[in-house]
Amino acid sequence: MSHNFLSMDTKILIIGACGQIGTELTQKLRETYGKNNVIASDIRKLNNDVVNDGIFEVVNALDYNQIEHLIEKYKITDVYLMAALLSATAEKNPAFAWDLNMNSLFHVLNLAKAGKIKKIYWPSSIAVFGPTTPRDNTPQYTIMEPSTVYGISKQAGERWCEYYHKQYGVDVRSIRYPGLISWGTPPGGGTTDYAVDIYHKAITEGKFTSFLSENSALPMMYMDDAIKATIAIMQAPSEQIKIRSSYNLSAMSFTPKEIAAEIQKHYPDFTIDYAPDFRQKIADSWPASIDDSCAREDWGWKNDYDLNSMTTEMFKQLKENIYA
Ligand code: SER
Repeated sequence: MSHNFLSMDTKILIIGACGQIGTELTQKLRETYGKNNVIASDIRKLNNDVVNDGIFEVVNALDYNQIEHLIEKYKITDVYLMAALLSATAEKNPAFAWDLNMNSLFHVLNLAKAGKIKKIYWPSSIAVFGPTTPRDNTPQYTIMEPSTVYGISKQAGERWCEYYHKQYGVDVRSIRYPGLISWGTPPGGGTTDYAVDIYHKAITEGKFTSFLSENSALPMMYMDDAIKATIAIMQAPSEQIKIRSSYNLSAMSFTPKEIAAEIQKHYPDFTIDYAPDFRQKIADSWPASIDDSCAREDWGWKNDYDLNSMTTEMFKQLKENIYA
């Protein structure tokens, strides 16, 4: 199927378009499918490119009728549901996290079941794994006993995605993102977010206090790779998407100490110290590295960035665009 054919047929709604992933995803989808074929939505109307540079609607991801209305108004075929509370924030507000993360998913799954949309993208996370999961090179299929509210919601969501696919033929596709690192939009409420903040602090202060301990290894990925994977899994022919819960996805894995050493190659005087807080326990329950061979085999996933190239790119972009 050619790109142009896809572009002509596809009408996209992004829910949660102003978040860390949504912001960059919206931009890439507008480039790929054309501005008129991409409707960005979020609960808040910020003054940014997502809102000003294309079609934007205010929507509450918990309001079925609002979502249904937008789908009918714009003849939407594909929904990307990016609204969620992340791991650290969810621990502070478990009931709301469960409500938002689960019921927004049910709304979209039910709209697909009713034949109102054709395809769903829903992000899962390494948080679906837990302290009893094998930590290194965590397989696609393994013990999953998540111990965070966020992880429980993502694990349950995965089961429902697979269920709706098997029972009702819903075309839902999902990736278990590792920690995502980007320069353009600040992250919000995640356990892996230190790995974004550290780049900013290296430039502005020359030092950083990490809320994770020096040897806490976690799987991570540069945002450009995550966006590339998201669009690739949605464009793949349906029969290539053999897993309808969610795919393991991996690019790199590092500790706070290792990212600090990488930063010192650019800023030799940079220093780091460690003050672990409640997020340490969350990190300790997650994998250190991920086996993503299923994604590589089924739909051709391949990352472009490792820690070295990501660090170079982060400093280049931050210096050109944020701290110029
Ligand atoms: N990056 C996310 C978090 O830390 C994991 O999905 O919550």
